[in-house]
Amino acid sequence: MLPPYRIKVVEPIPFLDPQERRAALADAGYNPFELRADQITIDLLSDSGTGATSAAQEAAAALGDESYAGARSWFRFRDEVRDLTGYPHLLPVHQGRAGERVLFTSLLRPGQLCLSNTHFDTTRANVTLAGAEARDLPCPAAFDLDSAEPFKGDIDLDALAATLTGPERDRVGLVLITITNNGLGGQPVSMANLTAVRDLCRAHRVPFFLDAARFAENAWLVGQRESGYRDWTPRQIASHAFGLADGCVVSLKKDGLSAIGGLIGLRDDDLFARCEANLIATEGFSTYGGLAGHDLERLAQGLREVVDPAYLRARAASTDRLARLINEAGVDTVQPAGIHALYLNAGRLLPHLSPAQFPGHALGCQLYLDGGIRCAELGSLYLGGMDDRHRLVTPAPFELVRLAIPRRVYTDTHFEYVAAVLADIAKEPGRVPGYRVVSSPPLLRHFKVRLAQLPTGGGGTD
Ligand code: F0G
Repeated sequence: MLPPYRIKVVEPIPFLDPQERRAALADAGYNPFELRADQITIDLLSDSGTGATSAAQEAAAALGDESYAGARSWFRFRDEVRDLTGYPHLLPVHQGRAGERVLFTSLLRPGQLCLSNTHFDTTRANVTLAGAEARDLPCPAAFDLDSAEPFKGDIDLDALAATLTGPERDRVGLVLITITNNGLGGQPVSMANLTAVRDLCRAHRVPFFLDAARFAENAWLVGQRESGYRDWTPRQIASHAFGLADGCVVSLKKDGLSAIGGLIGLRDDDLFARCEANLIATEGFSTYGGLAGHDLERLAQGLREVVDPAYLRARAASTDRLARLINEAGVDTVQPAGIHALYLNAGRLLPHLSPAQFPGHALGCQLYLDGGIRCAELGSLYLGGMDDRHRLVTPAPFELVRLAIPRRVYTDTHFEYVAAVLADIAKEPGRVPGYRVVSSPPLLRHFKVRLAQLPTGGGGTD
């Protein structure tokens, strides 16, 4: 399982002492999004735009053509993406959420429903901003965090069929399947599920799109776990998945192996014309869409490298190994391990904290305080319902913490360090304090929320 590359360029990582970390986190309002990168030793906040590029990508970037319209770099990017996805119409955007905004405001009407296995947070926000309602229909298996079911990212087909035929059927404006399912454990979606969604959407004349930020990682897991695809290459599986849908919106900051980028893929001519006009007005001309020529070059090359089986095999094995180390340390993770992230079951590790004391957030903060490790909560702070005084009213179903794994960045030694810090916390979980919300914005709360630490050994819940 050797990674098929060696390291050519490195950058130093900071080491703060415990007192400096305590001060940094307090200054950040106990919100890891407010920390400065130079206060962090291991950054597992996101796998987005955080990967290492290759020598071939940087060589391609030097050839970037920065012409305003019709740049060479656009045609290289377009041909690569068309070959991979098969969509006749392609629009570049600067990142995934720009694609979401352009697509949803061109496709969805106010009051319509967007159905998904799980909307990512910005995706949900953009559906809401377009005046529509985002509704998640995850499959029932997703709610058993410990089961080894291979495709817990699937949409619930019965619930989808019921909505498409029930009293709300005329409201459904879009079905959007997120591969892999980042909001629910990074679990893959099977080709069988995607095929069934395609059939249902066709029968009911509803557009079916992919949110394909991790299309290559989904393809790898399909090849490993779904009979019938074992002899397919990841690229063949990915192309087949794109072929099932009417279009896609993709953040290329993940499987584009680049710091920035995104795209919209479409078949429908009218929708393309609406999206293109919207794109030109808000992102940039349709041959660059907010990206520089050198970005388009890095992306075109990255899209080739990301479907290399040797790369995907090594990345999946590295995540698996980290999962094993963490599990051996006494911390449960959502099973089975996906590729881009591990999701720690903080609710189970910290039973002394109620959901209103945000155990997921508490574990994330402790990883920073003890080891300079940054990660993101996926629990009641992110998903829960709160009242006007920022008190938790409806807890999330689970209290999780996501350790997102940047591509080609950290070595197994870094991961051993992460597991060791977690092992220390797991030896004495009762010392981890809870938190309360001090202030919070109305939309996308987790990015800008500020919190305070509760005294250990109980503390209040308000
Ligand atoms: N869709 C999915 C499934 C995502 O995971 C993301 C971003 C987006 C859309 C938005 O793309 O960031 O390029 O605008 N996910 C990152 C994360 C931020 O950390 O999971 P973007």
